[in-house]
Amino acid sequence: MNLILLGPPGAGKGTQAKRLEQSHGLVQLATGDMLRAAVASGSDLGKRVKAIMDSGALVSDDIIIEMIGARIAEPDARPSGSKGGFILDGFPRTVPQAEALDLMLGTQGRKLDYVILMEVDEPALIDRLSGRFTCRNCGASYHERYQRPKLEGVCDLCGSTDLVHRADDRPEALGTRFAAYRNQTAPILPYYRDRGILRRVDGMAPMDEVTRQIEAVLAGNAVAR
Ligand code: AP5
Repeated sequence: MNLILLGPPGAGKGTQAKRLEQSHGLVQLATGDMLRAAVASGSDLGKRVKAIMDSGALVSDDIIIEMIGARIAEPDARPSGSKGGFILDGFPRTVPQAEALDLMLGTQGRKLDYVILMEVDEPALIDRLSGRFTCRNCGASYHERYQRPKLEGVCDLCGSTDLVHRADDRPEALGTRFAAYRNQTAPILPYYRDRGILRRVDGMAPMDEVTRQIEAVLAGNAVAR
């Protein structure tokens, strides 16, 4: 099964992708996490993208397409029999990225099963992002009120104590991120709707209810709209 989780910044893509990884044996491919790892490592790529990411703007298509193209071809992102596959989280974010993804999958004889749009309004997104903290080691996402780690200050998933607020969650960067979503990412929705693989879930609902709605999509029980 190959999925895209789509939605504005803070919609809950990362949160739900981690749950699907565990419940369905899929691998999460999160371009934001890959870029943050490059920044943390001090690589050339990291140096080129850090200021762009901190500002809330999108990194250029050619960098992203090369990065995801290499990752998607790795063995763990390929299904084995009827099991496995990937969850794209944060990619594609522009029409050229969506077209490049089709090309990559087509040449490998693979296809997308569903594009799941998580709909959340802007005041809720601001509330979520301003209270979010993440694990620098594994990228797990927490919230000061909605999702605290079981053990204070310790990541539930990897045990790291390196829990940090992201630079692009500052109020100055949020406006740029929301504008990038409206102007550059939302235009890809018709691309998938016209192919009949777009499904919408209520991202405003509590996390467990969002998971239930996504499971209904994967079970084939949600209508295209
Ligand atoms: P990226 O890391 O992809 O960020 P994003 O898309 O802005 O999404 P977020 O990670 O902020 O949010 P999310 O939807 O995963 O929400 P989460 O689950 O954490 O990208 C960062 C930057 O990298 C970009 O700005 C760009 O510069 C660059 N980049 C990355 N990909 C790129 C690409 N393809 N092209 C170009 N540039 C690219 O949840 C948020 C918070 O809400 C958490 O605290 C969580 O606990 C809480 N929460 C989640 N669900 C719920 C719920 N149902 N109810 C209440 N709280 C909830």
